Amino acid sequence: MSIIADDNDFQKEKIQKNPVIKAETIEFDKNFENCIRPKSFENYIGQSALKETLKISIEAAKKRELPLDHLLFYGPPGLGKTTLAGVIAEQMGVEIKITSAPSLERPRDIIGILMSLKGGEILFIDEIHRLNKVAEEILYPAMEDFVLDMTTGKSQTVKTLRIPLPKFTLIGATTKAGELSGPLRDRFGIIHRLEFYTEDELAQVISRTAGILNIEITEEGAHAIAKRSRGTPRIANRLIKRVSDFALVKYDGKITKDVANSSLDVLKIDNFGLDNTDRNLLKLIIEKYDGGPVGIETIAAAIGEDARTIEDVCEPYLLQAGLLQRTPRGRKVSPATYRHLGYKTVQNQQSLF
Ligand code: ADE
Repeated sequence: MSIIADDNDFQKEKIQKNPVIKAETIEFDKNFENCIRPKSFENYIGQSALKETLKISIEAAKKRELPLDHLLFYGPPGLGKTTLAGVIAEQMGVEIKITSAPSLERPRDIIGILMSLKGGEILFIDEIHRLNKVAEEILYPAMEDFVLDMTTGKSQTVKTLRIPLPKFTLIGATTKAGELSGPLRDRFGIIHRLEFYTEDELAQVISRTAGILNIEITEEGAHAIAKRSRGTPRIANRLIKRVSDFALVKYDGKITKDVANSSLDVLKIDNFGLDNTDRNLLKLIIEKYDGGPVGIETIAAAIGEDARTIEDVCEPYLLQAGLLQRTPRGRKVSPATYRHLGYKTVQNQQSLF
């Protein structure tokens, strides 16, 4: 197994002294994602086309001695939008300030963060589709002309004050590009979708993480975990921790294909990477609604999950895997869903796609 050379040596050392399998390391768990985040394009696996475009944009910006254009990343959660923003900051040699739209509720939140920026810095706003109207209005002149337009006084005496800001780059991330307002979307110079990862790419992510965490894993072991990671590095990295627990307690510590598969079976992650929530959702549509269509709110109430979580977290992969379809009348399953869940007969043939 090849371990990809990493730029994060001190993190590696920290983690190797503090193995992942120790249950008491809660603080460590919180920082886990940060510790294994790649810091350079070389160590960032996958999203090849996007990386190539970004490298060119970065080089051009450096040659012009200007900040990078504002960037918007969209796509399902866990595909590395924040990580990529960090890589860009590293490559530009600038600081990055990370926040998310729900924490920019009051005008002073966004004004404060904009005024704290220094020339060339990157402001990363996660879940940017959740920005409120007032915050958006403040952001427009900041993005376009690098100014803050502030109003003082009341009615007849109202005055507008233009405060210059240093030139900065806004990187917005969203799982719901469609919910972004047109004017905000138009102010991003570069807009990119992040794609699900292939099994090979995920196996590389897993081997890299295993290297950092000092976990022994075979190539087949990495592929076995990759197969059940729903095309998502965040899931792959979570699964390797869980499987490594099993490997240590039940086996000799090494993750082989058999160890990975039997651990994931115990964890009830099936060979499509579906967990109990996904299976309950699909089974509900099959058993109670004859394969669908059925509305998202009905599904959410029946399985006791939040509709938004279903839409943002469960559905993107189920749609991409061809196990679910969104229609104007609600969600439907496919013949593949029946087969995957072990149902012999496809009931309502006409309703299938
Ligand atoms: N960890 C999470 N995402 C990653 C990626 N794209 N490349 C390498 N390691 C990762």
